[in-house]
Amino acid sequence: MRVLLTGVTGYIGSHAAVEVLAAGHDVVGIDDLSASIIDTRHAIERTAGRKIEFHELDLRDAKGVECILAHADVDAILHFAGRKFVGESVADPIRYYSRNVTASVNLLAAAERHGINNIVFSSSCTVYGDAAELPVTEHSPISPVSPYGKTKAVVEGLLEDLCHAQEATRALALRYFNPIGAHPSGLIGEIPWGTPNNLVPYVMQVASGQRAVLSVFGDDYDTPDGTCIRDYVHVVDIAKAHVLALDAVGRNQFGNRDGFGALNLGTGQGHSVLEVLDACRAATRRPIPHHVVARRPGDAAVIYADPSRAANELGWRAQHDLVTMCADHWNFTRNNAERQASAS
Ligand code: WQD
Repeated sequence: MRVLLTGVTGYIGSHAAVEVLAAGHDVVGIDDLSASIIDTRHAIERTAGRKIEFHELDLRDAKGVECILAHADVDAILHFAGRKFVGESVADPIRYYSRNVTASVNLLAAAERHGINNIVFSSSCTVYGDAAELPVTEHSPISPVSPYGKTKAVVEGLLEDLCHAQEATRALALRYFNPIGAHPSGLIGEIPWGTPNNLVPYVMQVASGQRAVLSVFGDDYDTPDGTCIRDYVHVVDIAKAHVLALDAVGRNQFGNRDGFGALNLGTGQGHSVLEVLDACRAATRRPIPHHVVARRPGDAAVIYADPSRAANELGWRAQHDLVTMCADHWNFTRNNAERQASAS
């Protein structure tokens, strides 16, 4: 298949591109390079040993989207492009609705015009908000709290409505829990743009000496060690799920639901902030000093997945444990200091 992959030079998108290429498909990549670097395109090609087609484009440029989709001759879309930070979305909702919703409407409208019927969407566990029941299943209430989570829920709703309106359209929303780690080659990984919002990228910058100390946002939660619990999942496991998802939508595997489906991508196991910190200290063999500060607004105390539906319906299970995730993340961080610096 020829696969259109938006956000191709981003963290998840670049790893997905490598796996899609490895599966024998061709990649037509789009990225506006607003939060990634063009060198990642070449890193994808070096890692996969194959070239990709690349277009620099902001998906909010509807004419630009139309021009590419009119000529791209693709069979499916993997849609990753968007902003992804909970705290940032609270401070700047317009930016999130513009980049995550307007951009998606442009993309899906052009896809409909050009008969591109197979869509896999990069969604998020943040659509569940503060999940009342744990572990979280795909039947858990959709009740996002942050503007980021709300934008993901809006696009999922659009995809469901599109599948209902267009019999030929099939879509699968993959709800990531907390992606961390990097490709074992050390050639692609997460390059934080400015000050990292997420835990592990920040920890790795403390380990590398780029930052002095980790601030732990609260240790007074109702958890065993007082810090928040999340379901961390290796980015390569997430990427591999997208290859399986492409096949599933191609087979219209979710046809009984008007062609729309949603799956949790997590390990099913939660780890606290302090547990992750200890795993990173073991992986990096660095002290990684930390201090406890006030809670971060919007943080849920505990969230982790029930991943059984992805196992049953996609044949996908996370393969990597926390120590491997941290070791792979560190391997990329320490081998790409100059690329990290260029993004700061
Ligand atoms: C994890 C824990 C923080 C930074 C992420 C992504 C979102 C979505 C879900 C895919 C929290 C604590 C963090 C720091 C800290 N994934 N923390 N000090 O908020 O769960 O959301 O996963 O869509 O895209 O943002 O992840 O890594 O920001 O926080 O103590 O410097 O680490 O309070 O408890 P989060 P995170």
